[in-house]
Amino acid sequence: MDNDKKIIKASKIGQVYTIPELYDIAFDFRDAGKEVDFLLDIAREHAGREIKSALEIACGPAYHTREMSRRGIISGGLDLEPNMVAYTRGLVEKEGLSCEIIEGDMRYYKSDKKYDLVYILMASFAQLQTNQDILDNFNCVADLLNDNGIYIISTAHPRDFYGDEGKSAETVWSMTRGDITVDSNWGGDDQKFDPMTEIDDVTVSFTVTTPDGTTHYDFPDRYRRCSIKTFEALNQLAGRFEIVDTYGAIDKNILLSNDKAAWRFVPIMRKLK
Ligand SMILES: C[S@@+](CC[C@H](N)C(=O)[O-])C[C@H]1O[C@@H](n2cnc3c(N)ncnc32)[C@H](O)[C@@H]1O
Repeated sequence: MDNDKKIIKASKIGQVYTIPELYDIAFDFRDAGKEVDFLLDIAREHAGREIKSALEIACGPAYHTREMSRRGIISGGLDLEPNMVAYTRGLVEKEGLSCEIIEGDMRYYKSDKKYDLVYILMASFAQLQTNQDILDNFNCVADLLNDNGIYIISTAHPRDFYGDEGKSAETVWSMTRGDITVDSNWGGDDQKFDPMTEIDDVTVSFTVTTPDGTTHYDFPDRYRRCSIKTFEALNQLAGRFEIVDTYGAIDKNILLSNDKAAWRFVPIMRKLK
């Protein structure tokens, strides 16, 4: 490592989300428009009506929340991290959008507002680390949904932790915005799966290069790697949703399977009466 490179080693789990500017650059590689098409189409198909309102939980910089709002959907984003919430409110304000960014916990948040669709993307579902966290999340989301409301989850494909074929997703990539480049390593070289707890202890690294120099950040993080069978059992135990479809990507043409093209676990859940 260069001698003049500043190195910051964080110690707190989840601290990576306290610097939202870096997350926002690193994760701005998705086609939010295309993914919102998928979310709305699939939700409409299974709810049996137009989707007029949607809430993204663990929204981070809320790429999809903002895209929903641009399309005239009543749109909200929920996140636990105050720095992330403040940053994302700034993005919403700058663009003059009407979506609401709420500070709250996806296990316990309650509101009188009800939504047609709730969704959760990227590594966020894995932030629910215990079976009780997942049960609390199912109950929390069901209470936020209208009748027949849809909950869409996109999370890691289980081959990532139970298979021996390596990762389905890239863990090392680079993104540039203006004169800032963020090179990310999302647990790629340093990932310890504990089969007892189904938890991965990972180091998330950002190497940030600006005209002023380079800073390397290491953040510890922790992800629950819930098997599909455990997921189904927890869903049955909560008794709030039926799983009506399962995709292998945020793509209508890719159903869940062991094929390479299926690289995510995307269950579509409909609220039970
Ligand atoms: C991997 S980021 C995902 C951001 C966004 N969904 C995306 O697609 O880029 C995970 C986010 O979950 C938030 N988070 C973690 N635990 C949470 C909880 N219990 N309730 C709400 N948000 C939470 C973090 O603050 C972080 O912003």
